[in-house]
Amino acid sequence: MIKLYKAKDFSRLVGIGGLSETLLKTHFTLYHGYVANSVKIAGMLETAEKETPEYNELKRRFGWEFNGMRLHELYFGNLTKNFKPIKNNSVLFKKLLRDFGGYENWEADFKATGNMRGIGWAILYYDKISDKLFNMWINEHDAGHPAGGMPLLVMDVFEHAFMPDRLSKSDYINIFFNSIDWKSVENRLK
Ligand SMILES: [Fe+2]
Repeated sequence: MIKLYKAKDFSRLVGIGGLSETLLKTHFTLYHGYVANSVKIAGMLETAEKETPEYNELKRRFGWEFNGMRLHELYFGNLTKNFKPIKNNSVLFKKLLRDFGGYENWEADFKATGNMRGIGWAILYYDKISDKLFNMWINEHDAGHPAGGMPLLVMDVFEHAFMPDRLSKSDYINIFFNSIDWKSVENRLK
C-alpha cells in the first residue's frame, strides 16, 4: 500500500468565529476521506490491469480525490482564528491593486465568484507566465484549474462548508473573509 499522503491536523481552527466546532470537525473528517481515497487509488493503480474499464475509471477518479485532498489543505491552511488584514505594502496587495484596480474590486469579484450557483471552489490564482492574478471558479475539485497556476487563496463553496450551521452562502463568505490568514496567502506567492 502506497503511503504518499498523510492527513494534516487542522484542529487549531476550532473556535473560528461563525463556524461551529461540529461543522469544522465534520469537514476535517471529510478531508481525511480524500486523503485515504487518494492513497487507496494510488495503490490500486499500481496493480490494476491497464486498458480495462476499471483502470480507466481509477485514473479519472484519482484527480478528483487528489485535488479534494490538496484543495482542503490549502483552504484550511489559509484560515486563522487570529485575523489580521492584508498588509498594504505586500507584494500580493500591490498585484491586487494592479490587476483589479483596487482591493475592494478584487474582493467583490472573489465574493461573486464564490457566490456562483453550483458546488466547487473559488480560488485566487497567480499565473507566473503572464504575471497576472485571476479569480477562478473550480467545478467540483477538478474542472477549471489554470495549467501551471499557483493557488494563493482557496475558498470551499461546497454546501458542507456552511449548510450544517444553517448559514447562507453570502454569510459564510463573509465569515471566510473575517478568517483569512493573509500571511500564509502571501507566503504562497514567495
Ligand atoms: Fe470541503
